[in-house]
Amino acid sequence: MSNAVIIYASTHHGNTKKVVDAIAKEFDVELVDATQVHEKDLSGYDLIGFASGIYAAQFHQQIKNFAQVNLPQNKKIFFIMTSAMNKDFSKSMAEPIKGKNAEVVGKFTCHGYNTFGPFKLVGGTSKGHPDENDLKDAVEFYRRLVRVGQA
Ligand SMILES: Cc1cc2nc3c(=O)[nH]c(=O)nc-3n(C[C@H](O)[C@H](O)[C@H](O)COP(=O)(O)O)c2cc1C
Repeated sequence: MSNAVIIYASTHHGNTKKVVDAIAKEFDVELVDATQVHEKDLSGYDLIGFASGIYAAQFHQQIKNFAQVNLPQNKKIFFIMTSAMNKDFSKSMAEPIKGKNAEVVGKFTCHGYNTFGPFKLVGGTSKGHPDENDLKDAVEFYRRLVRVGQA
């Protein structure tokens, strides 16, 4: 069993927090809120996750800062994101992890309830997400990650 931590930021509706909580309920993984904690020694972790809602196609600025400041060399990392579009936005993490020789071993994405800007007028998009199925998928994603080292 690896020594794992997930660094998260979930500031819009707590969507991403629901996902990381579901994982932490099933597995021995530490959660760190990057909006509260800005420095941490990650050298003792075998597996490091970065989880974020997506804002203007980007991981949360505090996640980007945290990775840039704290991610040691040669770590296995993974990404979790919730967004209105349910797309892979992890390209936005390329710059913060540049030069750290990180191995990206998995990516998970799901819909997250969104009431940003004009969407508020129509009651928001992706209402009800992450739902039970999304959370189940997230747990399975993580199970695979710790079992076979990749997901
Ligand atoms: C300021 C802002 C900008 C957003 N920009 C995007 C975006 O570019 N693409 C997208 O798919 N969703 C976008 N969203 C929707 C969020 O990514 C989605 O609601 C996410 O699940 C929020 O996660 P959180 O509740 O954990 O913060 C945006 C939401 C906000 C509040």
